[in-house]
Amino acid sequence: MKSIWNQPVQLPQKNRLTSNMRADAAVIGAGMAGILAATLLAQQGLKTVVLEAKTIAGGVTQGTTAKITSQHNLIYKKLIDAFGEEKAAQYAAANQNAIAKYKEIIDQNGIDCDFEQKNAFVYSLDDPKIIQSEVNAAQRIGIPAAFTEKTGLPFGTAGACMFPDQAQFHPLKFIAALAEGLTILEHTMAKEIDGKEIHTDGGTLHADFIVVATHYPFINMPGYYFLKMHQQRSYFIALENASPVDGMYIEAGGDGFSFRDYKNLLLLGGANHRTGENKDGGKYDIIRKTGGEWYPGATEKAFWSAQDCMTLDGVPYIGRYALTTPDMYVATGFNKWGMTGSMAAAMILADMIAGRKNEWADVFSPQRMDILPSAKNFASNAAETVSALADEIFMVPKETLAQIKEGDAGIVESHGEKVGVFRSEDGQAHIVTTKCAHLGCQLAWNPDENTWDCPCHGSRFDTDGNVIGNPAMKGLWGNKKLSRSQQNKEVF
Ligand SMILES: Cc1cc2nc3c(=O)[nH]c(=O)nc-3n(C[C@H](O)[C@H](O)[C@H](O)COP(=O)(O)OP(=O)(O)OC[C@H]3O[C@@H](n4cnc5c(N)ncnc54)[C@H](O)[C@@H]3O)c2cc1C
Ligand code: FES
Repeated sequence: MKSIWNQPVQLPQKNRLTSNMRADAAVIGAGMAGILAATLLAQQGLKTVVLEAKTIAGGVTQGTTAKITSQHNLIYKKLIDAFGEEKAAQYAAANQNAIAKYKEIIDQNGIDCDFEQKNAFVYSLDDPKIIQSEVNAAQRIGIPAAFTEKTGLPFGTAGACMFPDQAQFHPLKFIAALAEGLTILEHTMAKEIDGKEIHTDGGTLHADFIVVATHYPFINMPGYYFLKMHQQRSYFIALENASPVDGMYIEAGGDGFSFRDYKNLLLLGGANHRTGENKDGGKYDIIRKTGGEWYPGATEKAFWSAQDCMTLDGVPYIGRYALTTPDMYVATGFNKWGMTGSMAAAMILADMIAGRKNEWADVFSPQRMDILPSAKNFASNAAETVSALADEIFMVPKETLAQIKEGDAGIVESHGEKVGVFRSEDGQAHIVTTKCAHLGCQLAWNPDENTWDCPCHGSRFDTDGNVIGNPAMKGLWGNKKLSRSQQNKEVF
């Protein structure tokens, strides 16, 4: 399931690390956050090396909708209430400046990436009041927001909050252009960081400054990001012959639909859920059914899904990785707004590393101590983790191997152990442990993707136990494939 961004783009291919190396700055991860951080660090004269475990833009960035906007659903009213006007204004300014910085980089380098300025809208179907209060909040901190009932959507709304002069683009064309000029080592996973040394299987990279831009940070301690982030998945389809919406739209509250055009296609998404909580599946069906009602003559050209890290208070973690790591930085927790988020992170980290004061940095500090806005989400994340850990130890499987049909999966008991079994169309049983390779929570089957997903921090594994999404760094142990005749000899 490739997104529309993968199809026509040739990303540069780079070598892997094969010996020890030195750099002024190392960036770990070549997604949007890593590429932008590396670009700005290299621009300020630092010898910068990017380490990428897989390939450039092979992570979440390839599944983004690529709206470049400071309108992150209904965030400004919440930010003012939780942090006060000053910090809400920092958030707004960082993201508004990020839009301008994209334009500057694209113009200066003549990058052909289908960049277009568009208005962004957050709409409500039934509550004009929440829209009006977001308009008021955004205006208070300097964004020229407006209330409107006029949208390009195929249905009426109770009103929308419009931010003018936002943008959209083709994220992989943009990255391909920047990556050309950067030193990037692909297929080089950072396994461990020890002071200024990053250890990989191919050698050690020594760097004075280290930026961890790995989507979910891979160092559990210090930092403790696993206590403050979960992941959320969303599903998208691209429709041809749907009338253009001429703008970027998201439904207020985050459970509704997202719209944007790309050339002759309409990108329609939604059906969000916490990763690891999609037992019944059918997420694409929800979007296809609704899309079919709104755009009866349209044809589906692509479908894909992706997930992002969600923080406790809805604000990314950008800054020092931990109080005890003065030269190690992090950019994560973009809450599905990592286009402007990554650019804001790159600008903030470039300033911090150069020893310049950055006037937006406070609100993003990973060490922020504003407990109240986070308390409820901290409690629900902790409860989720405890429940998934308890499931791994105590949940008794109810299914038997024989009950699992072709194309389906379930958790069964084998030799007194709990295992996850996917039965492929040829009848083979693909058997994995259900214990997540990150911190041991019980994995759950995602029938829309045919993957084993972790509800705790969102790691994902394919049916043969290979890791396809972090924070887990390795695959599941004890995997095997059994044909039908072998299954009969096994004790299930
Ligand atoms: C469905 C969906 C729609 C979205 N739409 C929008 C949108 O319209 N606008 C917007 O602003 N944001 C959007 N986002 C959010 C945005 O796409 C992400 O926040 C952003 O792409 C994250 O970029 P990243 O660089 O942090 O992560 P990634 O792109 O995942 O990059 C991280 C990289 O690090 C590498 N890596 C991981 N571990 C290691 C290691 N140990 N060593 C070396 N390399 C490693 C990975 O292989 C990967 O390439 C959306 C997100 C989703 C899920
Ligand atoms: S992702 Fe952390 S325990 Fe699974």
